[in-house]
Amino acid sequence: MSDVIVVAGKGGTGKTTMSSLIVLMLAQRGFGSVLAVDADPNSNLAESLGVKNVVTIADVVDKVALNPEVVPVGMGKESYIEFQIQSEISEEGGFDLLVMGRPEGPGCYCYINNVLRNCMAKLIKSYDHIVIDNEAGLEHFSRKTTRICDKLIVVSDETVVGMKSAQRILDLIQELGIVAKKKFLILNRKTKRCVASLKSSFKVDKVFCVSFDKAVALLSSKGESLKSLKKGSGIWADVKALGDEIWLKN
Ligand SMILES: Nc1ncnc2c1ncn2[C@@H]1O[C@H](COP(=O)(O)OP(=O)(O)OP(=O)(O)O)[C@@H](O)[C@H]1O
Ligand SMILES: [Mg+2]
Repeated sequence: MSDVIVVAGKGGTGKTTMSSLIVLMLAQRGFGSVLAVDADPNSNLAESLGVKNVVTIADVVDKVALNPEVVPVGMGKESYIEFQIQSEISEEGGFDLLVMGRPEGPGCYCYINNVLRNCMAKLIKSYDHIVIDNEAGLEHFSRKTTRICDKLIVVSDETVVGMKSAQRILDLIQELGIVAKKKFLILNRKTKRCVASLKSSFKVDKVFCVSFDKAVALLSSKGESLKSLKKGSGIWADVKALGDEIWLKN
């Protein structure tokens, strides 16, 4: 059974950056098979991971909507779409990638979300780790796309507003009855000294601090992937420490 890691947080806090670095770290360290899931219709996880020519769930759904005759006789539309998506999952550099994408027509998000949920339910047994880059809102939690969560990683910045919103996410997840076996908080783009006592005020298993890294900001401003970050320096040390704590000690 997979280890499902959900990365959540307010807009712009660093969810995609952290999801990418966790995927690259798990793959690089040989911690088992990894599926990265981009569950944000506006996201850029593929770019951040350096994966090109990705076919998204939305692409497959739109294609079938335009050409319904592609569905073989005797095969349901849903099964065909799921089969196509599974055969299109990109495999690259030690991990696979599943991208939700943005549907063309209005009001199709519900359907795409359902397809994503069904695909994940089927894929869950095939990978050791599934890392889900969630959208900024809590849509996936309230729609129950993210029903299973072994490790919830909430990303925040150091500001009071940022931390309050991280707390709101943690509260809401509890109110929605979603069981996250382990909960972690990442204080991202840290510039000051990290406050270890935050752990008790947040009721999480562990608080991690991730430094502001100039190289990350530079790559992102050029739209380049994080694959070219020098391993062992800057942010990598923080992500490696997080990996040690979460996957070696637990
Ligand atoms: N530790 C860091 N050091 C330097 N820059 C960072 C760091 N973490 C994130 N950034 C930068 O901050 C910006 C926002 O990060 P990111 O896209 O990961 O956030 P997000 O939470 O996924 O945003 P959204 O809610 O829009 O999906 C990006 O330009 C990214 O490169
Ligand atoms: Mg993002």
